Amino acid sequence: MSNDAFNHASRRKFMKNSSILAGGLIAAPFISRANYFSGAGDEIKIVLVGCGGRGTGAAIQALMSKQNVKLVAMADAFRDNLDNCLKSLLEEAKNDGKGLEKKIDVPEDRKFTGFDAYKKAIALADVVILTTPPGFRPIHFEEAIAQNKHVFMEKPVATDPAGIQRVLAAAQIAKQKKLNVVVGLQRHYQNSYRELFKRKDMIGDITSAQAWWNNDGVWVRPRKAGQTEMEYQMRNWYYFNWLCGDHINEQHIHNIDVINWFKGSYPVKAQGMGGRQVRKGKENGEIFDHHYVEYQYADGSILNSQCRHIPGTSSKVDELLIGTKGKIFCGAGKIVDSKGNPIYQYDMKGENNPYQTEHDELFAAIVKGEYKFADADNGAFSTMTSILGRMATYSGQVIAWDKAINSGIDIHPKVYAWDAPTPIVPGPDGYYPIAVPGVTKFV
Ligand SMILES: NC(=O)c1ccc[n+]([C@@H]2O[C@H](COP(=O)([O-])OP(=O)(O)OC[C@H]3O[C@@H](n4cnc5c(N)ncnc54)[C@H](O)[C@@H]3O)[C@@H](O)[C@H]2O)c1
Repeated sequence: MSNDAFNHASRRKFMKNSSILAGGLIAAPFISRANYFSGAGDEIKIVLVGCGGRGTGAAIQALMSKQNVKLVAMADAFRDNLDNCLKSLLEEAKNDGKGLEKKIDVPEDRKFTGFDAYKKAIALADVVILTTPPGFRPIHFEEAIAQNKHVFMEKPVATDPAGIQRVLAAAQIAKQKKLNVVVGLQRHYQNSYRELFKRKDMIGDITSAQAWWNNDGVWVRPRKAGQTEMEYQMRNWYYFNWLCGDHINEQHIHNIDVINWFKGSYPVKAQGMGGRQVRKGKENGEIFDHHYVEYQYADGSILNSQCRHIPGTSSKVDELLIGTKGKIFCGAGKIVDSKGNPIYQYDMKGENNPYQTEHDELFAAIVKGEYKFADADNGAFSTMTSILGRMATYSGQVIAWDKAINSGIDIHPKVYAWDAPTPIVPGPDGYYPIAVPGVTKFV
């Protein structure tokens, strides 16, 4: 089956599932304030769901877009995180010196906390910013679309195939409702990548690619006395798959997504290897510290992807595409012919801040009443590519895309509550079970 045929076959299935939901919409045409801003004077109410590092940045970027945007509500699982975020936002807004703080209006009755906080905040929005750990993205995105809101949501958009299916189904409804959805795979909004993409035919057919996210790794949030297991995992979320999906999903998705984007398709299968060599304490939960995955696309081309979180090793975060007529070095903004002669060089002086551009373009479209952004499908398929890689490295098996995405695997808790059981628990020694290639089945 050709690459496109493969992907269309997969998509047809989602369309079939989601058309049942979409049917009601066709019968009752959608009318929402969110779709009908009449001009630059209209105030656009935004709410922030997930008030951590990225949420703080994304909220500021939304407020700094040239449109009349106001932050009216915030939601977080934890009150201390919400308070710290609001404090940082107000400080940053004041430092900006342009009256940005007037665009922040979050009184006590519009601060929501706990697992259900998102629903109450979303109800008050025109545009929702979703920046929690990715495990919650499917339910939050579903709710935002059900409540007829435009969305900016961070990558990745899920941590398991069940979550991917929910995002794909909600994405279909978003299209029906003409709700703009931007996903924070910001290389799509970065000038150098956009210019390279326009010129990808200069290298002929892409026959192989390489992608890297190798660096030291991220924070650990130590266990504190009195925390339930649920609270501990929610705080130290990077190390638990139901919340994070492993670092191949959490960060390496950026590079994998670039290869999918330039290829114009998604892999049909993957095999690989990985483990935890250095980052293997109790506080490191269940994730690996390195993965190496060979993805194969339907046309036989290969993506060699590697990600490593090990201090003291060489760092590289980049992508390389190799074609029948040349190569694209993404990080360097350079294209060479098959003999290695430069044939295009992006002038890095023209580089933008893609995190800002995402918001500038999203809010400009909303103000003009344009339906311009439908990033959720690609966000879901690129997230699925990362999950496929994790399944391959954990199991040591060759994993087929179709089987994986349709597996129904759901690694989430049955109930979200502070005293509810977590999907993974430590043993008596405090260590969590770790995947063992050759033993671990398809997770
Ligand atoms: N595009 C990028 O380059 C980029 C950069 C950084 C982070 N991110 C993404 O942003 C997301 C958040 O990352 P971060 O670094 O801000 O993490 P963080 O830990 O700083 O913030 C996450 C926040 O979400 C809150 N939260 C957790 N579960 C919640 C729930 N169910 N409801 C409401 N709030 C909840 C947490 O309490 C925390 O305040 C991740 O998906 C990450 O991949 C993207």
